[in-house]
Amino acid sequence: MKGTVHKCIEKLVTQNFGVEKWQQCLVEAGFDEDHVFMLNDDVDEAVTMKLVTQVIPSVCNLTIQQVLDTFGQFWINDYASKVYAPYFEGCKSTKDLILKLDFIHKSLTENIPNARPPRLRYEWVDTNRLAVTYLSDRGLIDLFISIAKGAGTYYKEELRVTKKSDQVLEIDFA
Ligand code: HEM
Repeated sequence: MKGTVHKCIEKLVTQNFGVEKWQQCLVEAGFDEDHVFMLNDDVDEAVTMKLVTQVIPSVCNLTIQQVLDTFGQFWINDYASKVYAPYFEGCKSTKDLILKLDFIHKSLTENIPNARPPRLRYEWVDTNRLAVTYLSDRGLIDLFISIAKGAGTYYKEELRVTKKSDQVLEIDFA
């Protein structure tokens, strides 16, 4: 998984739990305590999953769902909206961002070796209800939902997100 995701995790843990906890996470995930992630690093997926599902929950005393929700809020509101600000300037609502997401992921990662962002298919099922098919062999639809909620917070919108299956979710923008 791309280094930028780990850079975001580093900032999240450091800001919310302190540098020492982050150093502990690094060591438990198999890195030196002063390891620094670069945005374009290509990080072993197994390490990413270990960090999110085992190391951070145990070091920071969070459930996996809490890690996903905290990450979803932080990724959008404290990280991507700054590091990737131009993408946000073109999107005035959560709906705009979600509808542009397939393009954003594709364009951001097309020149990065081994990047495999999720691909999305969209279908309107009602005026304000969008069905999103999430296509990724990583199976991280719960992370997708947490990030979508983070986007709702960013745009100060009440979203209702319903998981229909491991590949399909529906978002009510009303
Ligand atoms: C401008 C905003 C965003 C940027 C710049 C961005 C960028 C990225 C990047 C670089 C990755 C790693 C891809 C890889 O290593 O192959 C990623 C993964 C991911 N992104 Fe985004 N993203 C953005 C917004 C969102 C939003 C709003 C959602 C959900 C609503 C989302 C859902 C995901 C998920 C679930 C993954 C994990 C990879 C997978 O499922 O296969 N992203 N994103």
